[in-house]
Amino acid sequence: MFDKVKLMPIYIGSDHAGFDAKNELKPFLEENNFDVTDLGCFTPDPCDYPDIAREVSEKVLEVDGSIGILICGTGIGMSMAANKLKGIRAAEVTSEDMAEYARKHNDANVLAMGARLSSGEDMKKMALKFLGTGFEKDKERHVRRVEKIEPANHNHAK
Ligand code: RB5
Repeated sequence: MFDKVKLMPIYIGSDHAGFDAKNELKPFLEENNFDVTDLGCFTPDPCDYPDIAREVSEKVLEVDGSIGILICGTGIGMSMAANKLKGIRAAEVTSEDMAEYARKHNDANVLAMGARLSSGEDMKKMALKFLGTGFEKDKERHVRRVEKIEPANHNHAK
């Protein structure tokens, strides 16, 4: 699907519930020429999703143009935890359409998915859709709305 050039850096992480799915998605993305760094977990032992969400989100904020992928049982806890970091826009996604709009309209920089809700094949499709779609930055309304997501930018008078 993608050209033979190294594409944007991807930071991937999961808790125990997303461990197998992460281990399946990572090589698939590498085959599609993404530069993927796995930030854990590295064993199937139970761990706390907020710790992994933070690791991945901090990397995404540090490395310009990078994207995070987080997988837990539902994707809910990962997205909640990631969205606590200023500058992170994590989207919990369960369909290719959601993956597309999360990028196009919301400029999401973290994709959160649930291994107990979506199959491995569906997660691959959602990830490719997310990574292959850009933010519609030429549309002023989307830029304005995304800017208003940051609490410091809220002005309800506008
Ligand atoms: C772990 O059992 C589960 O709670 C976690 O993976 C996630 O679904 C949380 O949102």
